[in-house]
Amino acid sequence: MLLLRADTTQGIPLVAGQLCFPNAWCLEEKLGKSFLAIHQEVPLFAERIGRSSYLLLERLKVGRPVWRLNWAIKNIPRLNLTPRYAHEVAQAQRDLTPDAIGERCLLRVERQALTRLPRTQDILFIIHTYQEPIAAIAQNGQQARTLLGVLQTTPPEVLQYKGIAPFAPMLIEYLLDQL
Ligand code: HEM
Repeated sequence: MLLLRADTTQGIPLVAGQLCFPNAWCLEEKLGKSFLAIHQEVPLFAERIGRSSYLLLERLKVGRPVWRLNWAIKNIPRLNLTPRYAHEVAQAQRDLTPDAIGERCLLRVERQALTRLPRTQDILFIIHTYQEPIAAIAQNGQQARTLLGVLQTTPPEVLQYKGIAPFAPMLIEYLLDQL
């Protein structure tokens, strides 16, 4: 649960929050930064969706919340993935094998909702994290094909940023075998 101040002179900064299940970031590194500065590390964000996302925040109406989904693929089931646990993620990645990849890898989806608060006009940002093993998803042929298509078309720099690049070929092989 995060709070962004409705201050456009500061670029709608993140001013408070309580973060249970961050995906490879922590509050300390982002607090006080503007919406665009928060996303500085995200490849293609500024060029492709920065402006429209910022406008969405700016024009958010009281009583008309919006939501979006963000996806990742992880190889440990830990929900709290602050950078402190980066070594666990790296070790799990080294341990991946073609036989185990379906069970070990999880599709991690964040449902993110943005709500304009009526009194202060600040923006409440809440995140609910869901995850499911790729093996469970791959049981459904349509879902396996969708995931395969996403992996095959995601720009390489985005796969790199999401930490999927090192095992993407193994995962693609696995999904092809399931079809
Ligand atoms: C329209 C709203 C938003 C859009 C379209 C958006 C989009 C994104 C995207 C595409 C990523 C990359 C994640 C990935 O590929 O795994 C990301 C990361 C991130 N987003 Fe957002 N986001 C939005 C709102 C917010 C808000 C309101 C916050 C408030 C704090 C936020 C904080 C973050 C953080 C901390 C990261 C990780 C950045 C890093 O790795 O340094 N996002 N966002």
